[in-house]
Amino acid sequence: MALKLLGVSGSLRSNSSGLRALSLVLDAARELGAETRLLDLRVSSLPMYNPDAEPDEHVTRVLADVTWAEAFVLASPDYHGTMSGAMKNFLDYHWSEFSGKLFGYLCASHEKGVTAMEGMRLAVRQCYGWSLPYGVAINSEHDVDASGNIINPRLQSRLRMTARDMVVYGSLLHGQFTEDLAKNIPETFAARYG
Ligand SMILES: Cc1cc2nc3c(=O)[nH]c(=O)nc-3n(C[C@H](O)[C@H](O)[C@H](O)COP(=O)(O)O)c2cc1C
Repeated sequence: MALKLLGVSGSLRSNSSGLRALSLVLDAARELGAETRLLDLRVSSLPMYNPDAEPDEHVTRVLADVTWAEAFVLASPDYHGTMSGAMKNFLDYHWSEFSGKLFGYLCASHEKGVTAMEGMRLAVRQCYGWSLPYGVAINSEHDVDASGNIINPRLQSRLRMTARDMVVYGSLLHGQFTEDLAKNIPETFAARYG
C-alpha cells in the first residue's frame, strides 16, 4: 500500500523557500511510490484555533487532509527561533490524529533552524507522534536563486533523503501502529487510541 504523505507549509510568504523545499520532498516521495498532498497554510484560511468555536468549512477541509495522512512533513520558517504562528496554529487543532504517525521537519532559516524544528518536534511528541531523528534547514540567502529554485546540490540530496526515509520509516511505523490498533494489545501505546 502506498504511504499517504501530507506536506504542511507554514509560511504565508508568497515566494516561500520552505514551500519550495517541501515540494521537492513531496515530488521525490511520489517517485518512491507515496501518495502525497500539500496543505499550504497560506491558502487554507484556517482560523485562529478557538476550542469554543464550531469547525467551519476550512477547519473541516484541513481535518480531512490530516485524517487521510499516514505521515507528515512539516515545513516552517524560523521566526524568532521557533516555528511560525501559522504552523503552531495548525498543530493546535489536532492531537490524536498525529499519534503513531511519522513526522519529518524542514525549516527555512538564516541559521540552522534547530530550535524551530525542536519546537515542532516537541509538539509532535506531546501528541504521541514519531519524529525523524534529523531535520533539514534551508538558508534562503545561499540555497535558493532569485526564482525560488533550490540550487544547493547538498540540500537537494538531504531533501531526497528525507523523502526516502519518510516513505520507508513512515510505512513501517504506520503498518505496525495499524496492526497494534487492530489487535488492541493493552501493553502498546496504540491501545489508548483503539
Ligand atoms: C518575524 C520574523 C522573524 C524571524 N526570525 C528569524 C530568526 O529568529 N532566525 C532566523 O534565522 N531567521 C529569522 N527570520 C528569517 C526567516 O526565517 C527567513 O526569511 C525564512 O527564509 C522565511 O521562510 P520562507 O522563505 O519559507 O517564508 C525571521 C523572519 C521574520 C519575518
